[in-house]
Amino acid sequence: MTTILAMEYKEEALHMIDQRKLPHTYEIFIAKNCNEVDFAIRDMVVRGAPAIGAAAGYGAALAAKTFQHEEKNVFLLKMEESLEKLNKSRPTAVNLMWAVKRMKKLIEIKVELPVKHLADLILEEAHTIVREDQAINLVMGNHGNTVIPHGATILTHCNTGALATVGIGTALGVVRTAHQSGKDIFVYADETRPRLQGGRLTAWELMQEGIPSTLIVDSVAATLIRDGKINVILVGADRIATNGDTANKIGTFMLSVVAKTYGIPFYVVAPTTTIDFEIDHGSDIVIEERNSEEVTHIEGVHIAPEGMKVYNPAFDVTPHENITGIVTEKGIIRAPYQENIIKLKCNDFR
Ligand code: MRU
Repeated sequence: MTTILAMEYKEEALHMIDQRKLPHTYEIFIAKNCNEVDFAIRDMVVRGAPAIGAAAGYGAALAAKTFQHEEKNVFLLKMEESLEKLNKSRPTAVNLMWAVKRMKKLIEIKVELPVKHLADLILEEAHTIVREDQAINLVMGNHGNTVIPHGATILTHCNTGALATVGIGTALGVVRTAHQSGKDIFVYADETRPRLQGGRLTAWELMQEGIPSTLIVDSVAATLIRDGKINVILVGADRIATNGDTANKIGTFMLSVVAKTYGIPFYVVAPTTTIDFEIDHGSDIVIEERNSEEVTHIEGVHIAPEGMKVYNPAFDVTPHENITGIVTEKGIIRAPYQENIIKLKCNDFR
């Protein structure tokens, strides 16, 4: 389905495509311990909600490998510290906290086992997270494809592809599926300021797959929508509240407003691991603020006047009333979101 592998665990280390360097340089960043995985997440060597979750799983596995010769109580203490550190590496994508919680739970359940055995289980769990995400991506691709008309022009934002997950992607996974099913689609990719995940990463993935596409600056999207050039908008998610409010890359909210104004279907594509069942509203989602250089500099060149203040939130929240549907591996959730998301939690969604 895709040959792009955002990460691979081999030779007792996590090998990741260094997404800071794409598309000009294809380099592999090798994390040999948990601190290096933590750095890779913070510095965005690896990014995209599901990919961050998977990387955190391997971060836990590498921590367990480091401490596997310690006494049980020391091992548990060190694991707790490592997991806490990983948990704070980025604040918005809930898949990270989900993966950390999953590892904590595993340790709690299997605490009686010898340390070495526990460490092996933690690595196996990290592999399971990857296998699950790959399968989920394929199912979401098929569900999402049902809302893509033949010959559709799709608008997408940020990077939600193989680089942002460990499979075919979320929103871009639907694009891949639609393309492979012969629907003759065309994609407009927002460049996605300030870090240009669209211009650098989505454009790279689209070209690798040979999917007909064009790159636009973010501010072109409204004109294309108004002029009837877009049939459907597909975006990913970093965290979804139980009322359906969705945090995603900055600029997503603005797109949703224009889409609503012109009656264009606006779909969020995300695994259920991106739903935060502990929060009710989008206003409860912590929005990461990143450093000012992302805005004042382009490729290391200073473009703003020295000393200019910057406001640089990495994400925004799209209110649920602007969302046509949330494509998950369990099906497409539609309004009333609160009710349907609770049904999903109770395994009662169809
Ligand atoms: O800051 P990033 O690049 O990690 O942000 C990524 C996004 O906002 C994606 O749209 C989101 O994680 C969904 S990815 C499948």
